[in-house]
Amino acid sequence: MRLPPETEVIAPVTDTDIDRAAALVGGARRLVVLTGAGISTESGIPDFRSPGGLWTRYDPRKLTFDRFCASAETRRLYWEMGNDLFPALRDAHPNTAHRVLAALERRGGLLRIITQNVDGLHQKAGSSPEAMIEIHGTALEVGCLTCGARQDRGPVQARFAAGEHDLRCDCGGLLKPATISFGQAMPERETVQAFADAAAADVFLVVGSSLEVYPAAGLPRAAVESGAALVIVNREPTPYDDDAEAALHGSSGETLGAIAARLGLAITDA
Ligand code: APR
Repeated sequence: MRLPPETEVIAPVTDTDIDRAAALVGGARRLVVLTGAGISTESGIPDFRSPGGLWTRYDPRKLTFDRFCASAETRRLYWEMGNDLFPALRDAHPNTAHRVLAALERRGGLLRIITQNVDGLHQKAGSSPEAMIEIHGTALEVGCLTCGARQDRGPVQARFAAGEHDLRCDCGGLLKPATISFGQAMPERETVQAFADAAAADVFLVVGSSLEVYPAAGLPRAAVESGAALVIVNREPTPYDDDAEAALHGSSGETLGAIAARLGLAITDA
């Protein structure tokens, strides 16, 4: 019988756990990694569902795509949230965990990093664009909901801060940060590719995700059903821990740093 989550004692990460995870990750020929907001908290970016996370400060039900399109007030709230968060995202630096994943790509054997994050920190750490899928888009750009034109977010966020609250494209369409909101269609090409990569993986590594939001949270199952070994590094238990060969409940930076040390990986500042 499992204890209720609030009283579940989380076992610390042991050397044996690190050995097991390092053997799987280091021996992978087609390693696919799914990252979530938990990999970026050590870079100063809050996650969503931890105490103090974004969804404890903002109500996601008020920030759905339909409400963004229908309500000027929702759009104002969205951009105001950006005033608060965009500078932290823009100026954040990758941490050890991002750099270990970039080093695993250089070492060979990494097929893809599928990130739910919108902060661009994997790319800042040196992960190559072709190794990346940003399945929830990016907060560093803005897109037009009519013509699809993309632009850097900085100047548009500055227009909002200067008092322009009805932010429109030259074509007249609504401008929105290029992230995928609740109720918004997932990017089709990226999502199809992500599930194809998961099915091709021999090892599937999850780092810093509660694995609560689909379709991304369905990727570990797709990998396991295709025969991959699942490794999870997450501070708290996830719904997929029982399917994992190794579930390590520790900090992503410290844990991936220990795995990198076992593999003799040189972690460079990108
Ligand atoms: N090291 C390891 N794990 C961490 C750390 C850390 N330093 N910091 C936080 N975590 C863990 C938390 O315990 C939590 O289980 O990371 C997980 C983050 O979970 P969420 O906040 O739910 O973030 P994520 O899984 O990325 O959310 C998925 O939900 O709201 C949507 O679009 C949003 O992409 C996001 C999606």
